[in-house]
Amino acid sequence: MFSGVAFVTGAASGIGQATAQSFARKGVKRIVLVDLGDLSTTIALLQNVETLPIKADVSDEAQVKSAVQGAVDKWGRIDYAANCAGIGCPRAKFADTTTADFEKTMGVNARGCFICSREQIRQMLSQEPLETELGPRRAQRGAIVNVASILGLHVRWNIAPYTASKHAVVSLARQACLDHGADGVRINTVAPGLVETPMTAGREVLTEDSAPEVVPMARPGLPEELADVITFMCSEEASYVNGATWCVDGGRMVH
Ligand SMILES: NC(=O)c1ccc[n+]([C@@H]2O[C@H](COP(=O)([O-])OP(=O)(O)OC[C@H]3O[C@@H](n4cnc5c(N)ncnc54)[C@H](O)[C@@H]3O)[C@@H](O)[C@H]2O)c1
Repeated sequence: MFSGVAFVTGAASGIGQATAQSFARKGVKRIVLVDLGDLSTTIALLQNVETLPIKADVSDEAQVKSAVQGAVDKWGRIDYAANCAGIGCPRAKFADTTTADFEKTMGVNARGCFICSREQIRQMLSQEPLETELGPRRAQRGAIVNVASILGLHVRWNIAPYTASKHAVVSLARQACLDHGADGVRINTVAPGLVETPMTAGREVLTEDSAPEVVPMARPGLPEELADVITFMCSEEASYVNGATWCVDGGRMVH
């Protein structure tokens, strides 16, 4: 089903690494891996796949442009983009939140997602739709999934920069979907609940915040449970899903 080129940010760890693995499991043969960190573990996990590892900061416009150009120089197009790179922020009451923490978190999560998805859309608009056995009406120039958080849909205590940045991520896909829905490019958002990754490792929140009265499934999510939804949303099987925000949270947002 997946015959095109995938582009994954935050691919060195957690949900991004699992997303690259999910693309590979579902048959993607060419994957661009973008991260600030070391991508060698992810590369080692990917079997029978050509990879293009790129060290880049998603909040740096020149570096993102160069990463997209690198993908196009090597493989000519980008069909599926998963923007998973992101950071948390120090806990503080709103009145104690520093401008530096606000700007850093907004910089990576919101600005980074904006720059990456804009550059990916520009590339997708310049390419012909990929042929698909599902028929021409389901063909797509490209599909993008941005990773927000359930904190892009509701608020919690003492985490204003993260919450603001993830609300921005949710609105970016909704806006881009309006502006480019008719162009054959789809853009959607996944909103994870609590997921077991290096971002949350060792935090007591892993047990406290996944108690049955908080999460109906009474456990945190696995990175691959996010990844499989992200890659499905990128696939032609999801060809009429656009501008959506899907919670992948074990049911947490029902209450
Ligand atoms: N783990 C959770 O519980 C959870 C919940 C909700 C949302 N999320 C979101 O999911 C996404 C992935 O998080 P994760 O849990 O896999 O975290 P993680 O820390 O395991 O992975 C994040 C990756 O992003 C990379 N990264 C950070 N800043 C970057 C930058 N400026 N440029 C390029 N790469 C950068 C890191 O190097 C790392 O490899 C994030 O956007 C996060 O906000 C995670």
